[in-house]
Amino acid sequence: MVSLHEHEKRILLALNGPMGQRELAKATGLNPDSVAHASLWLMSKGLVRISEKRKALLSLGKEGKEYLKEGLPERQALMAIGGGTTASELEKKLGKGKFRIAMAWLMRKRLARSENGKLTLTAEGRKVLTKKMPEEEALEAIAAGKGIAEKEAGVLKGRGDLIRVTEDVARVISITPKGKKLVAGGITAATGANQLTPEMLQDGSWREMEFRPYNVSAVVPSVYPGRRHFAKQAMEYVRKVWLEMGFQEMEGPIINTSFWNFDALFTPQEHPVRDMQDTFFLKQKGELPEGGIVDRVRAAHELGTEGSIGWGYSWDPEKARELVLRTHTTVLSAMAIAKLKKEELPAKLFSVGRCFRNEALDWSHLFEFNQVEGIVVGGGVNFKHLLGYLKQFFSKLGFEKARFRPAYFPYTEMSVEIDVLHPRGEWVELGGAGMFRPEVVVPLLGEDIPVLAWGPGFDRIIMDYYSIRDIRELYKNDVQQLRTMRQWMRG
Ligand code: DAH
Repeated sequence: MVSLHEHEKRILLALNGPMGQRELAKATGLNPDSVAHASLWLMSKGLVRISEKRKALLSLGKEGKEYLKEGLPERQALMAIGGGTTASELEKKLGKGKFRIAMAWLMRKRLARSENGKLTLTAEGRKVLTKKMPEEEALEAIAAGKGIAEKEAGVLKGRGDLIRVTEDVARVISITPKGKKLVAGGITAATGANQLTPEMLQDGSWREMEFRPYNVSAVVPSVYPGRRHFAKQAMEYVRKVWLEMGFQEMEGPIINTSFWNFDALFTPQEHPVRDMQDTFFLKQKGELPEGGIVDRVRAAHELGTEGSIGWGYSWDPEKARELVLRTHTTVLSAMAIAKLKKEELPAKLFSVGRCFRNEALDWSHLFEFNQVEGIVVGGGVNFKHLLGYLKQFFSKLGFEKARFRPAYFPYTEMSVEIDVLHPRGEWVELGGAGMFRPEVVVPLLGEDIPVLAWGPGFDRIIMDYYSIRDIRELYKNDVQQLRTMRQWMRG
C-alpha cells in the first residue's frame, strides 16, 4: 500500500494527460511550490513522470535596443550612401566604431562598393533600400514579443549584444501506468487523517483513524525567522551578567569632546593616543561643561592634585573642545563619575559599547570595536576587589581563569592588562583595568575616593565563541551568516 499525502492525491486525481506545473496548480488549488514538491514525491514512488521542456527565451540586448531605434549600422550607412556620401563623411557621421561595423556588413552582404573612397550601392543594395533585412525582421519580432525560433534569431547571434538568450525550463508531469492503476483502484482526496486534532483525542475517534506515516527524513525548505545579530546576542548576555552582579548601565553618545574622552581622564594634550593615527577627530568643536569642573581638570593637568605635580604644561581649553568619535567606553565612566552625588555612593556602573580608532585594517583590527566598561565607586573598595570583580565576570562568561599583568594607562594607578585562559589552553589578551588616579577622581568627584575601573575589549570573546577568524565578519552583516550562525547559548 502506497502512502500518499493529501497533495499527492489531489495531483493524481487532477492529472488528465501531461500537465505543466502551473496548470496543475490551477487544477488542484495548490500553490506551485506544493505542486513541485508533491510531484517529486509522486515521481519517487513511480506514480508520475516528470519531463523537462527547455525553451530558449529571447530578448533584446543593449545594442539590440539601440539599433531597433536608430537602425542597424549597415542600414544607417545604406541610407547615407543612397543619398550620396563619401567614406570619410560617413565615418564622421557614424563614428569610427559603428562605421567599421557598417562597412564590414555592407561588404559582406555585397550591398555597397568602395572605390577610391567613393561609396556606391550595388544592385542588391538598392533593392534593400526599400525592403527589410532578415536581421531587422528578427529584431522587430523579438521586440514585439512574437515567438521566433532560435534558428531565425540566428542571424543576430555573434553580433555583439543584439540579443540575449535565457533558458526557461518548464516541467511537464504525466501519470505513469502504475499511477493510473492506483487511481482506477479508487483514491479519494481527504481520507485518512494527516493531523491529530484535540477533538480526535477527546472523542477517541483517533483509534479508528488511519494516519499517514511521517517521513522524518524528507527534505524541507529551511525557514529563517527573524533573530538578533549574533554579536548583539553576546552583548545582551554581558549586559545581563552585569545587571545580575548589581551594576547599573551607563549610556552616552558616540561623539564626545576630547575633554571627556581624554582630558577628564588625565591624558595630557600632547599624548600620542590623541594623534590622528588613533583618533577620529571631527571638524566641529563641542562645548565644555560648566560648574568649575574644567578649572579643576586644568589644575590637575598643570599642577596636579594633592601629593602630585601633574603634567606641568599649559592646558589648552580649545584642544579640549575638539570633537572625537569615542576611542574607549572609559569616556562614559568619566562622565558618570562627574554626575555622581555623594549620597549615591557606593555606585557600580557598566556599559557595553562601540568605540572607534583609526587602525590599519586586518583580521584582528578594525576601525570599530566593542568594549565592556565598568566602575565601582566608593564603598572602601581596593585593588583586590578589582581583581575579584573581573574574575567573577569572566567566570560567568565561561573563562575559569583570569590573570593580570602590570600595565600603564594615564588614568590608572595601579594598572593591569587582563588575560583569560581559553578552554583550548591559551591565554587571550583582552585589555586594561586599574584604579583611577586621584588626578582623575578629585576633579570629577571633589574628593579622593577609590574607583575600580576596567575596559577590556569584547570582540575577541565574540569571535572565539562563534569561531570567527576575521573581525570584519562581526560587522559585515552577511545575511547568510546571520541566518545560520548558532545562537549564543550562555544566555
Ligand atoms: N580605556 C582603555 C583602553 O581603551 C582600557 C581601560 C584601562 C579602561 C584601564 C579602564 C581602565 O577603565 O581602568 O584600552
